[in-house]
Amino acid sequence: TMAGLGTEIVGIVNKLQDVFSAVGSSATSIDLPQICVIGSQSSGKSSVLENIVGRDFLPRGTGIVTRRPLVLQLINRPAPAVNGASPQPNGTGDIHANPNEWGEFLHLPGEKFYDFNKIRAEIIRDTEAKTGKNAGISPVPINLRIYSPNVLTLTLVDLPGVTRVPVGDQPRDIERQIRDMLSKFISKPSCIILAVTAANTDLANSDGLKLAREVDPEGTRTIGVLTKVDLMDVGTDVVDILAGRVIPLRLGYVPVVNRGQRDIDQARSIKDALEHERAFFENHPSYKGKSAYCGTPFLARKLNMILMHHIRATLPDIKTRISQQLAKFNAELQTLGGPMGENSSSIVLSVITEFCSEFRTMIDGNTNDLAVNEL
Ligand code: GDP
Ligand code: NA
Ligand code: MG
Repeated sequence: TMAGLGTEIVGIVNKLQDVFSAVGSSATSIDLPQICVIGSQSSGKSSVLENIVGRDFLPRGTGIVTRRPLVLQLINRPAPAVNGASPQPNGTGDIHANPNEWGEFLHLPGEKFYDFNKIRAEIIRDTEAKTGKNAGISPVPINLRIYSPNVLTLTLVDLPGVTRVPVGDQPRDIERQIRDMLSKFISKPSCIILAVTAANTDLANSDGLKLAREVDPEGTRTIGVLTKVDLMDVGTDVVDILAGRVIPLRLGYVPVVNRGQRDIDQARSIKDALEHERAFFENHPSYKGKSAYCGTPFLARKLNMILMHHIRATLPDIKTRISQQLAKFNAELQTLGGPMGENSSSIVLSVITEFCSEFRTMIDGNTNDLAVNEL
């Protein structure tokens, strides 16, 4: 069901996790970078994030909808064996509820949400509880965890958009407050920034790109995302932007087509929307020759490749930690009078070495095409 973020690396990370637990390492998780979406209000940030995750659960719409940061932790949790006792979904009427996939809010510990529509309702309820109903904003995040066998253990952050003129209960310095909030999240060097700009607005005015450039001047962790490509005037396209001829970006741009307001009102499914997006790029005269580099699946692939690079870079450290753990076990065994023996420990070590180089090959095979400007 996922749009592809993680499907190939879930296996790799899970294998690494298995190795950690097999050697009893306390480091049971691989720290993957956070992914943050930034940009102007209603540029399509929440829509992009939702498409990447592949589940409908975020409030989206015109005007200021996202009014607090949403820190979304995806947690990979393998499905239990068939005969194991699996929890029963409590989402009434949701025929798609999957007993192995649920959400849990930090502010509602122990309450499992199997119905993703109810997750959205709770995000809206808690936003209103903390900021009122009149467009107020707050930097206090909502923390949501989603457990699923299909996701990569990873944190994504949905953020309010940049806006200039205060409306409703917003403070007079709304623009500065939102910018400060966004800067705080994207300043972390480990954060991957999705700088979202609507394709029917001027790239030179992009709030997302401007903010990203302040914290990532080299552009090593910023991906440009162009939304609403379907709403561009006839005869215009984003080909020059993609080719790096407008504002070049090291990791490039990905054009996408999300669900429009009518699709949201009619509850069009993500599956449908992705199919529509694919058809759009494949049939459009400007993009049909490069449709492989367009759309949500390509964005997910780009993110996967960046994450793979990250995992690859951490392999030497992982190997060291495992070797240290083994040395410690051996020493402990020796004090107990039962040494593990040179032979068996060197076998284990060579298995680890082989395993690490196998990963490297696998990762390299998947990252060869992380070329900067594919178009
Ligand atoms: P955010 O405020 O940046 O989080 O933007 P949302 O994801 O809430 O989207 C704002 C509005 O723009 C909603 O009505 C969406 O349906 C619409 N929208 C977002 N992306 C696209 C797109 O690619 N095409 C079209 N037609 N509408 C979009
Ligand atoms: Na919006
Ligand atoms: Mg939003």
